[in-house]
Amino acid sequence: MSRMAIRPDVEALPAYRFQALDAAVKLDQNESPWDLPEPLRSRALERVARAELHRYPAMHADGVAERIAELEDWPVEGVVVTNGSNVLIQAIVIAAGLGRRVLSVAPSFSLYALQARLLSAELREVPLGAGFTLPLEALLAELAQGEGVHFLAAPMAPTGNAVSAEDVWTLARAGTPRWLTVIDEAYGPFAGSDFSNVVRDVPGAVSLRTCSKAFAMGGVRLGYALTDPGLAVHLRKAVLPFTVSALQAALVETVLEDPAYVRSRVERIVAERERVALALRTLPGIDVHPSVTNFLLVRVAGAAALHAGLLARGIVVRRQDHLPGLHGCLRISIGTPAENDALVAALTAELGARSAATERTEESHA
Ligand SMILES: Cc1ncc(COP(=O)(O)O)c(C=O)c1O
Repeated sequence: MSRMAIRPDVEALPAYRFQALDAAVKLDQNESPWDLPEPLRSRALERVARAELHRYPAMHADGVAERIAELEDWPVEGVVVTNGSNVLIQAIVIAAGLGRRVLSVAPSFSLYALQARLLSAELREVPLGAGFTLPLEALLAELAQGEGVHFLAAPMAPTGNAVSAEDVWTLARAGTPRWLTVIDEAYGPFAGSDFSNVVRDVPGAVSLRTCSKAFAMGGVRLGYALTDPGLAVHLRKAVLPFTVSALQAALVETVLEDPAYVRSRVERIVAERERVALALRTLPGIDVHPSVTNFLLVRVAGAAALHAGLLARGIVVRRQDHLPGLHGCLRISIGTPAENDALVAALTAELGARSAATERTEESHA
């Protein structure tokens, strides 16, 4: 294949970084550790089995949009549905960032920057402050000039901390009318936060949501935006027609008719997150960053070796130590209680062995 055929900025672009690793305990993608509950799962699959495979689906998953509108108490005209919220990130950059700017903090969800680069938007990344705090003043200075899309993950990813409601309001208001403010609420259900009121109030604000995390449908691929109906019309132009298949729509429509499982699942994950964080904080040589999500960001010396050590014990977590400001960091998704027990035991063994080795070295030097 001739290299000349590819745009030089695409050639220079790294691919989305993810290495699928096989392990009995999978804590590397912030998924739900539980599949959909029965009998809901079977009901959804029965509806999939009855889908008309020879017909095109609704152009923009209209049936799914109606279920979401009911669930979120939002006008259906302001709901934009795609096959995963990452598809919406691309559509939003096309609709509002191309030839303009894309603003985010660094580190943040890597797709914001990757899509900005892919689509030749001018990328502006503001480093997080000490303790991964939001650099409010620097973001406001950026918003005071130019125009484009501001991606604000709230809660933040991959650091996992909350963004205060006050800061979300301030940034959204500062962005309007020249900036589209995208509040990415992928982990909102675990934080008990909901910024739809900002979107109702501030023109040009969008709430981005996903069925991949709290809804336990990462394998289905379904994401959506809540925004002003006037803005939604334009976002839909950047989403290819018919991309949510009849199979996805049949499944998600059934599940969203009966979403009661979500709340109890979220409560269990939050309780487990607190339990795991507490247990890890008692271990030597590990710094556990506060999290309001379904994952924990931890810092250790020798993150690569610890990642490999956990893998050898059948546990896969995600390395984040390549990201700016995240040296030594690993990201650990919260799993089932048994998976979390296995993680705590493995970390206790790995970190305990290290601390014993350090003590031995210190004694021999004494
Ligand atoms: C902050 C954030 N936003 C968006 C997404 C994309 O979610 P999906 O494409 O599965 O809807 C993710 C996935 O991990 C994420 O962490």
